[in-house]
Amino acid sequence: MARTQSPVQGENKGAAGATGLIIRQKEPRNLETPFDQVRSFLTPTELFYIRSHFPAPTVELASYRLRIDGAVRDPFALTYRELRGMRSETRVAVLECAGNSRVFLVPQVEGAQWELGAVGNAEWTGVPLRALLERAGMEEDACEIVFEGADRGTPVEKPVPPGPISYARSLPRDKAVQQEVLIAYQMNGRDLPQDHGYPVRAVVPGHYGMASVKWLTGIHAVREPFQGYWQTSEYGYWDDQDGQPVRRPLGEMALKSQIARPRVYEVLAPNQVCTVAGAAWAGETEVTEIAVSTDGGQTWTPAEFIDPGQRHTWRRWQFQWLTPKTPGRYTLLARAQDANGRVQRDAHDLSYGTYVIDHPLPIEVFVGEAAAVAR
Ligand code: MTE
Repeated sequence: MARTQSPVQGENKGAAGATGLIIRQKEPRNLETPFDQVRSFLTPTELFYIRSHFPAPTVELASYRLRIDGAVRDPFALTYRELRGMRSETRVAVLECAGNSRVFLVPQVEGAQWELGAVGNAEWTGVPLRALLERAGMEEDACEIVFEGADRGTPVEKPVPPGPISYARSLPRDKAVQQEVLIAYQMNGRDLPQDHGYPVRAVVPGHYGMASVKWLTGIHAVREPFQGYWQTSEYGYWDDQDGQPVRRPLGEMALKSQIARPRVYEVLAPNQVCTVAGAAWAGETEVTEIAVSTDGGQTWTPAEFIDPGQRHTWRRWQFQWLTPKTPGRYTLLARAQDANGRVQRDAHDLSYGTYVIDHPLPIEVFVGEAAAVAR
């Protein structure tokens, strides 16, 4: 389903109630959504996290061209106006940075210390990539599509390449030709803000955010798997091939659920109903069940959904918890199940290194009088 309205009445796409972002890095801009503020199906644009490896480039509309070339019969370039003149689609998709929740890893690892807010759910408008590939006449032997952004620089993540590189990432052909992959120019009904890729970005629903290349200037069909920095050195994981570890690019998002409220170390009154609320998402499928534990994972109880199940979007949920009469420290967890019967894994898989932090994340809270628990 291409067009989806926010299912909860009274919610809108504006900044009403938005409270600003948390700085993880000043420049290049890496800003996190305060996840406890998630109160709508669509994340207001002003609250949507920003993840940029290089300073945001200024792209002039007058000279902007989007090139579609490589393993195609008829390469071409589009102006911004021409792109806007093509048949568009509007879809809701969740983007999660592959490093989201890194701060939960013990011992601490390198990289931006994202808490829960390197994730957001927005409505994107643009031209299906598939239409551009059809127009260009993609060759039969093209195996991947490389997206190239206008931003350039020398990455800080080791091993550091010898000179400046652009941000570029490839998508397997099978995914690239799916109708949902958009060459987008609007976010939540307005032109993309500069930090989110103005004037044009890719949006790859179901994949980690690194696939959705911002400030998009090139779409290149290739005949050999692309071995660029952002999918070998960074945003890759270790797979096993005949007993040998091999590096593969990250792709589909893992199933995950996060608690938005209460917050870490929040003090709750005893013997009172507290709403535990959060959101969950799956890669290419739907979230079908959420279970919540208030005792560190010993027992689990089903939560109820706020949003309907829909592929590629997040699904908010809530759970009414009657807090214990006994004061103390309690660990809350949320665990999702998807339409394929998969359940979130219990612990971080080390083959993903500092990415794919998809296990139930412990939120510790205090039950009791604020003054008493502080003692
Ligand atoms: N595209 C370009 N050109 N440069 C980047 O640094 N960061 C990627 C992706 N696209 C990036 C990019 C990563 S890692 C993520 S998680 C998403 O953009 C974040 O998109 P957002 O900043 O709009 O939230």
